[in-house]
Amino acid sequence: MKPRPRVFVTRVIPDAGLDRVREACDLDLWEDDMPPARDELLRRVAGVDGLLSLLTDRVDDELLDAAGPQLKVVSNFAVGFDNIDVPALTKRRLPAGNTPGVLTETTADLAFALLMAAARRIPESVDYVREGRWKTWGPMLLMGVDIHGATLGIVGFGRIGREMARRGRGFGMNVIYHDVHPATPGEEAELGARRVEMDELLRDSDFVSLHVNLTEETNHLIDADALRAMKPTAVLVNTSRGPVVDAGALETALRDGEIFAAGLDVTDPEPLPVDHPLVAMPNCVVVPHIASATRVTRDRMAAMAAANLLAGMRGERLPTPINPEVYE
Ligand code: GLV
Repeated sequence: MKPRPRVFVTRVIPDAGLDRVREACDLDLWEDDMPPARDELLRRVAGVDGLLSLLTDRVDDELLDAAGPQLKVVSNFAVGFDNIDVPALTKRRLPAGNTPGVLTETTADLAFALLMAAARRIPESVDYVREGRWKTWGPMLLMGVDIHGATLGIVGFGRIGREMARRGRGFGMNVIYHDVHPATPGEEAELGARRVEMDELLRDSDFVSLHVNLTEETNHLIDADALRAMKPTAVLVNTSRGPVVDAGALETALRDGEIFAAGLDVTDPEPLPVDHPLVAMPNCVVVPHIASATRVTRDRMAAMAAANLLAGMRGERLPTPINPEVYE
C-alpha cells in the first residue's frame, strides 16, 4: 500500500477541514493555542508533502529548504497571504492556496460594525454604564458622528471593499473609492460608488475604510500626512493588515484630534500589547483580528484550505491558487 502523504497543520482549525485532511493524510497537528515557534515550525515541516499554514506562520525560502524537495503544496488558512513569500514558492514551481470569497461578507460585516462602534462610541458607552457613571440622560453625553448621509471612502475596491460599499449604501451613505484598478462603469453604477484619487478620498470622506492587500506599496499607506489630510471628524477603519497604517502616526492623530476615531481589527504590531497607547485611547476601538470569525465562515475557510491542500498533494490544480503561474 502506498504510504499516506504527510502533512503539518500549524493550528487546530474547524473539523470541516481537519476531518478531510485526517481521512486522507498522515496528520501532524500543532494543538497549542499559540503558533509554533520558528525553530519548532522548521523542525515539524521536515519531510512533509503538504503544509497547512496560518497568517502567523512565515513561509519563505528558509522554511521551504527545511521542508525539503518532496513538498508539493502550501495551503494558507486566510485570504491574505503576506506571510508567504510567493516568488520563493513560484521559483520552485510549488503551488500555494488561500481562501478567497468565503469570508468576504463576514469581513465586511465586521468592518461596518467597527465603523458604527467608533462613530457612536459604543465601547466607551458600555464602559460608562459598567463603571456606574450613568446618573441621568445627558444632552451632551457621548456624542458621536452620523453614519447616514456621510461619505464613505473605500480604499481597495476588491471583493471586501465592494461588500463594504453595499453596506454603506444600505445606510444611506455616499460611497467613493480609490483603487489602482478601477471598477467598470457598470460595476460602479451597480454599487453606487464613484472612483476618486486618494487625496480627494482622504479630504472628502467622513469614514475611510481600508481593504487593500499588504504590499510594499500599501505599507504605511495611511501615514502622518494621510491622517492630517482627513477631516477632524473622520473615522478610520482598518480590517486589512496592520502595517497599512503607521501606528505611531495614528496615535498622534487620535490624541491631537486630527481625526475623530479609529476602529481596528488589525494592528502593527499584532497582537497589540495591552500597554500599547492605542489600547487605552477612548476613541480607538481595537478587536483582535476577528473579521472572518463566525462559525459558518471559519468552517468554509477550513473546507477550502483542506481542498487546496489535498488537490496539491494529488498533483491537481488548486481550486484557489495564489500563484497560478506555476501551472503555465
Ligand atoms: C485574515 O486576515 C485573512 O486574510 O483571511
